[in-house]
Amino acid sequence: MVGGALGLSMIITMFMPSFDLRSAVSTRVALEKQLSAGYDVGFMYADPLLLGVNRPLTVILDKDPKTGAPLDPPVTAYVYQPGVPMPPNIRHPHDLGKGVEDLSMSKGQIGSVSGSNHSAASARGVVFTIGVDEFNGEELSYIENASELRGWTPEATLAAAGDKNTRYISKGKTEFVAQGCWWCHTLLPEQTQDWQAFGAPPYLGDFNGESPTAFGSDRKAPDILHVASRNGSREWMMMHFFNPRLVQVNSIMPRYDYLWGDKDANGNTIDFDKWRAEYREYAEGKRTYPPEVPDYAPNSEIRALIDWVLSLK
Ligand code: HEC
Repeated sequence: MVGGALGLSMIITMFMPSFDLRSAVSTRVALEKQLSAGYDVGFMYADPLLLGVNRPLTVILDKDPKTGAPLDPPVTAYVYQPGVPMPPNIRHPHDLGKGVEDLSMSKGQIGSVSGSNHSAASARGVVFTIGVDEFNGEELSYIENASELRGWTPEATLAAAGDKNTRYISKGKTEFVAQGCWWCHTLLPEQTQDWQAFGAPPYLGDFNGESPTAFGSDRKAPDILHVASRNGSREWMMMHFFNPRLVQVNSIMPRYDYLWGDKDANGNTIDFDKWRAEYREYAEGKRTYPPEVPDYAPNSEIRALIDWVLSLK
C-alpha cells in the first residue's frame, strides 16, 4: 500500500509536465522592457560595476530618419549603436514565445541580427521598432528590424530624434538597482489589494527576456510599476528627487541631489551649500518659497533615472 503510493507519487513527479518560464509568450511590455534595457544582466564585462555603459537608447521619432517624412503618431525606436550588445531574445529568438518569434522572424526580419549573427549585428549597430499583427487569430506585438525594413541607421535615427526626444531608460533602470531604490519601492503590485492604488499586477509574459528582474525588496513606499500613469510630471520628479520634502513634507525618502553631478544644464557649478542654506530658511519659515531646483545636465545620472521612471506606465 505505502510502496504503491510512493511509487505513484514518484511517477507523477517524474512525468509531470515541466514548467518553462522562457516559453511564456512575450507581451508588448516584455518587448518594450527588453529593447529599451538591452543586454541587462547585472554584473558583467559589458556593464562594469553597473555604470550603465554600452546601453541602447530609446527615441521618440516624429519624422522618418531616412526620408524625413513626418511620422504621425510618433514612433518609438530602440537604438543600438555599434558596440552595444543585443538583448537576450535577439540572441535567442526562440524564447520570444510562439507567434512572437514567427512574426519577428518573418515580418520583423530579425534573422540577420539574431542567433549566431548577434555579435556581428552589435558591431555594426541596429535600430528596432515594435510591430503588431495577427497570428492564428490573436493580436501579438513583435520585434521589427527597422535598419533592414526601413533603412534606419543608429546615427541617422539619433540625429532625427535629437536630444529632446532621446530617453536613457536603460541607464535609468541600472540607477534603480545601483541606488538601492528597491529597498523601499517594489515593481510588483499585488492582486486585488493594490489594484486601485498602484495599478494591475504584471503578466508572466511581461518578464520574458528580462534579466535581472527588479521586483524590489519588501515594501516601505508606493509600488512604482505604473507610477508614470498617475504622475507623468518631469518637474515633480525633479523636485522630489532633489529633495522629497519639497513636495511631501514628512517624506522618509532620501534626497538624490548628488545625481545632478557638479554642473547644471547651462554648465554652471551647482552650489549645494547655498541651496541647502536657503532650503533651511524656507523650512524654518524665514522664506516664502523654497530655492529653485537646478535644471540637470543632459548627461547627468538624474536624467537617466527620470527617463526610466517616466517610462513606467
Ligand atoms: C527610505 C525609503 C525610500 C527610498 C530608498 C526611495 N524612496 Fe521613493 N518614496 C519613498 C516614499 C515613502 C514615497 C512616498 C512619497 C514621499 O514620501 O515622498 C516615495 C515616493 C516615490 C515616488 C512617487 C511615487 C508615487 O506613487 O507617486 C517615486 C517615483 C519614487 N519614490 C522613486 C524612487 C527612486 C527612483 C528611488 C531611488 C533613487 C527612491 N524612490 C528611493 C521612499 C523611498
